[in-house]
Amino acid sequence: MKVGIVGAGMVGSAAGYALALTGAASRIVLVDRSEALALAQAQDIAHAVPFASAVAVEAGGYEALAGADVVILAAGVGQKPGESRLALLERNAAVFEDVIAAVLRAAVDPILLVATNPVDVMTHVTAKLAGLAPGRVFGSGTILDTARFRSLVAHHLGLAPQSIHGYVLGEHGDSEVLGWSGARVGSEPLASVAAQLGCAITADVRARIDDGVRRAAYRIIEGKGATNYGIGAGLARIVQAIGRDEGAVMSLSLVTPELAGVQNVALSLPRVVGAQGIRSTLMPTLDADEIAALTASARMLRDTSDALGL
Ligand code: 2OP
Repeated sequence: MKVGIVGAGMVGSAAGYALALTGAASRIVLVDRSEALALAQAQDIAHAVPFASAVAVEAGGYEALAGADVVILAAGVGQKPGESRLALLERNAAVFEDVIAAVLRAAVDPILLVATNPVDVMTHVTAKLAGLAPGRVFGSGTILDTARFRSLVAHHLGLAPQSIHGYVLGEHGDSEVLGWSGARVGSEPLASVAAQLGCAITADVRARIDDGVRRAAYRIIEGKGATNYGIGAGLARIVQAIGRDEGAVMSLSLVTPELAGVQNVALSLPRVVGAQGIRSTLMPTLDADEIAALTASARMLRDTSDALGL
């Protein structure tokens, strides 16, 4: 599995590091408009390899992406403290015109995995520019918000996050929707397990967890200027699911033909991931409030895409 990473900043380098540690890739190529940065990150990651698995890590120009199975797109600017993801759109959409053309000159029919924010609209931009089969262009979407949701619920219950099953849907951003009504612990409904453990999900608990998920990036960016480790691990996990043709279910952003009357919109739903990228979509069970919130999120993303002529 050869994985290219375009953009060797905080997110791209964290993805490279996570790929090296997990062994999800056998070859990693970092590309950046600053060749010096790409080289420095590649060398630093390569020095972790003797402690991990057999992975070749290198830096190069776009031509080094020849033969890449997956290309992670992490180029562009990130949020400054207090800035929303959507505020980055014009700057990052302009960067992608050149980036996608250069990637596709080198790599034949790769899977394109978009991490650049605002990730939903950037996924739509990429899908339009690349013209690849629909399941081969998708974004990390709410994979990280879902991880944050599972972690916070797990912490409240005193359980392992791996045993909490629930998804954050819609935009990776302010309008995202926490899927409380379908959340489960093992095979049991969340509310029933919470009651058994004496840790009820009260309105206050729900509000605290919602805020903890929705505002996580703002708080982390305030403290360290960027988020990188969580998303880096999430990107490596997606690559692993592709490499092993797993059929893993993850909340990822894909241009979706129709959702709640909104047409042609990129957003996150639970998606099945395998060797060809996204194989299928699972429609989650939602209550009326969640459906209304997901519809609003989809409309907002559609309006934003309209403004870009997508
Ligand atoms: C995150 O949620 C900033 O989108 C990035 O961590």
